[in-house]
Amino acid sequence: MEITLKPLARQVVVITGASSGIGLVTARMAARAGARLVLAARNEEAIQQLAQEIRSQGGQALAVRTDVGSEEDMRQLAEAAIAEFGTFDTWVNNAGVSIFGRCEEVSIADMRRMFDTLYWGAVYGSRMAVAHFRHRGAAGALINVGSFFGDRATPVQSTYCTAKHALHGWTDALRMELEMEKAPVSVTLIHPGRIDTPYNEHAQSYYQHQVAHRGMVYPPEAVAEAILFAAAHPKRDMYVGLQAKVLKMVGDAAPRFLDKLMEVVTIPGQVDPDRPSRNSRTSALYKAGYGLHERGSHQGWFRSGSFYVKIQQHPLLAAAAVAGLGLAIGALRKGGPSRALVGAPASLTPLSTSPSAAPPAAGRGEVVIMAELEAE
Ligand SMILES: NC(=O)c1ccc[n+]([C@@H]2O[C@H](COP(=O)([O-])OP(=O)(O)OC[C@H]3O[C@@H](n4cnc5c(N)ncnc54)[C@H](OP(=O)(O)O)[C@@H]3O)[C@@H](O)[C@H]2O)c1
Repeated sequence: MEITLKPLARQVVVITGASSGIGLVTARMAARAGARLVLAARNEEAIQQLAQEIRSQGGQALAVRTDVGSEEDMRQLAEAAIAEFGTFDTWVNNAGVSIFGRCEEVSIADMRRMFDTLYWGAVYGSRMAVAHFRHRGAAGALINVGSFFGDRATPVQSTYCTAKHALHGWTDALRMELEMEKAPVSVTLIHPGRIDTPYNEHAQSYYQHQVAHRGMVYPPEAVAEAILFAAAHPKRDMYVGLQAKVLKMVGDAAPRFLDKLMEVVTIPGQVDPDRPSRNSRTSALYKAGYGLHERGSHQGWFRSGSFYVKIQQHPLLAAAAVAGLGLAIGALRKGGPSRALVGAPASLTPLSTSPSAAPPAAGRGEVVIMAELEAE
């Protein structure tokens, strides 16, 4: 069934996790495009302030304090959107939080709490959105924000990548069921790469040094662009950054190679040995995070946008890019993880929370590998 979505300017858009990072930028961009917004997060002061900012610029916005891990809160969010605007046209399950720590040291309580947010929050939200679109009989868009770590597991963020894998599975299964019954719902999965937001600061961390993206980082505007394109154009998937697509393709084509590569690059690419961790103060796993910051405190190569997001909006360009990527991966697979690619020795650092066992700074090896993986 062909699904036609309204232009963004005529839509009511619900966004969870609107107080920070990707959700904050998406809300501001959507408001500038003329959409009416329903903003959800636990930090009520931040979303009220954002709603006020949007209204002061001539837009319309409603702030609803919501813990996405509560099914009742999510029901009230949907009801509040309908009470205020009569309907909603796009629902974005964006709220999220991560945990940095080894599989064996992260507490079960932390793991469960994160699943409440990342997985159950998106399940509740998906069901609220689908029920509304079905009830009103007019098409709507459900957009779930996954991660490249939902396509490929990573060390150090085991709970996060596991919950994102579950979210990806849920999203794909739901899409097929809805298609089988010709329900008027477009279901999109967003696969962001590494994005410059306070994601790392808001994470629960078992490290004594600050977790941060070190290497290539994409701006939150690139994710917002993908989300808002999918709000008006049915798309199965949107990858943000060629980085995200390459990780998936290399992981599928050469999983063992990627295991080895990630074992080498993950710690230097994710933990800053020069900064003590502030995560015990800034973690947003159990309480609202600090709000109204679009960006985080990362180091590395800051991209101004994602060319790959743009070509996915034009399918012919995308086909050409995928063919090129296939050739590149074929060449990589033939070569394997050579010394030449790895460059200077980047030791396999033991995962330890001890300050004396601090991970090394990103060496040239990491930079070369990340450039190979991420360059667009
Ligand atoms: N940044 C990256 O590198 C990256 C990469 C791939 C995917 N993603 C995904 O992108 C999404 C947005 O993350 P971000 O990078 O923008 O991080 P962020 O700046 O930390 O924003 C996370 C948002 O989620 C909200 N949130 C967290 N727990 C919540 C809960 N229980 N109930 C309601 N809201 C909750 C936070 O608001 P409150 O604290 O106010 O509740 C905040 O608005 C997440 O799903 C994340 O997994 C991020």
